Amino acid sequence: MSAMPHTIDAPAVRRYGAPALSADLQAFAADVRHDLARVPKRLNPKYLYDDLGSALFGAICHLPWYRITRAEKSLLVQHRAAIAASAGPRVRVIELGCGTGEKLQVMADAFVSCGNRTEVHLVDVSRLALDQTVNALAGTRLPVVCHRMTYEEGVARAALGRTDEAMLVLFLGSNIGNFDPPAALDLLQRIRAPLVPGDRVLLGVDLVKPDAELRLAYDDPLGVTAAFNKNLLVRMNRELDADFDLTAFQHLAVWNAAQSRVEMHLLSTRRQTATIYAADTVAAFDAGETIWTESSYKYETGQIGKMAALTGLEISEMWINADARFALALMTVA
Ligand code: AVJ
Repeated sequence: MSAMPHTIDAPAVRRYGAPALSADLQAFAADVRHDLARVPKRLNPKYLYDDLGSALFGAICHLPWYRITRAEKSLLVQHRAAIAASAGPRVRVIELGCGTGEKLQVMADAFVSCGNRTEVHLVDVSRLALDQTVNALAGTRLPVVCHRMTYEEGVARAALGRTDEAMLVLFLGSNIGNFDPPAALDLLQRIRAPLVPGDRVLLGVDLVKPDAELRLAYDDPLGVTAAFNKNLLVRMNRELDADFDLTAFQHLAVWNAAQSRVEMHLLSTRRQTATIYAADTVAAFDAGETIWTESSYKYETGQIGKMAALTGLEISEMWINADARFALALMTVA
């Protein structure tokens, strides 16, 4: 029997006194109120991932036009034995943003078969993601600890109480692409902070590729990405008692070459207002005005090296899927 996974919740105070609106909903409402008042209007991409949003993202990963997931998986399968062997005999593997646990399952097999003593730590804000990953790993019999909190909090928690185990932090799926370059660097530095020399970070990063390919990846002909984006309106309607008219918003994905990012927006097709009652706010839209819901930054390999150097990490290996233009970098704390 493996150890029973247990979940450590971020806002521990909630156990002692529950407010009328849950702490999660209060934070969502406050962010919506603040970010819809900005110019341009925006929403934090983390709110795309409620249960339906996470399921829609899972569907995106199967789309022929969205190649990140498959490209990364094939690199992991090719190099997992080397990655596991490099981690040493006792290791804590920490995954930031575990999704459905598919990648970790691929990696776990390698850790089991090379005979490392491995403990798995999952960091995600979604309880569903944590549950699915725990289930996906059940067959491996590896001990699993869940941390339902932000990435940097999770890495710090996962590092507590360690003795001689090495840490291997998995930051995969080009999740780093959702952060603008200064924020990405800041996040890497926070992830790096609790690590010691010899610890490793495995980073999956999508690379710059032709405009037409990026358009298809983020505005697919089946409309799944459009549904993923518009679900944010559905979520605000349901959770924040808002009245967004789903028929009056369109999914928009644009490649901003100057900033090296795909931007995802919700475009208002007419002049209109939406009331978000639980956030105590009214948002007024001009025709053609957008809510900017996500950026996916695309990197060049040289930039990954620079970012690593600025973080005190050395690139030990950089594996590239040339066809899909995706990079997997194994970095070591110097
Ligand atoms: C999970 C953040 C890596 O940016 O490519 C997929 C999310 N957005 N299609 C990405 C996403 C639109 C995805 N990440």
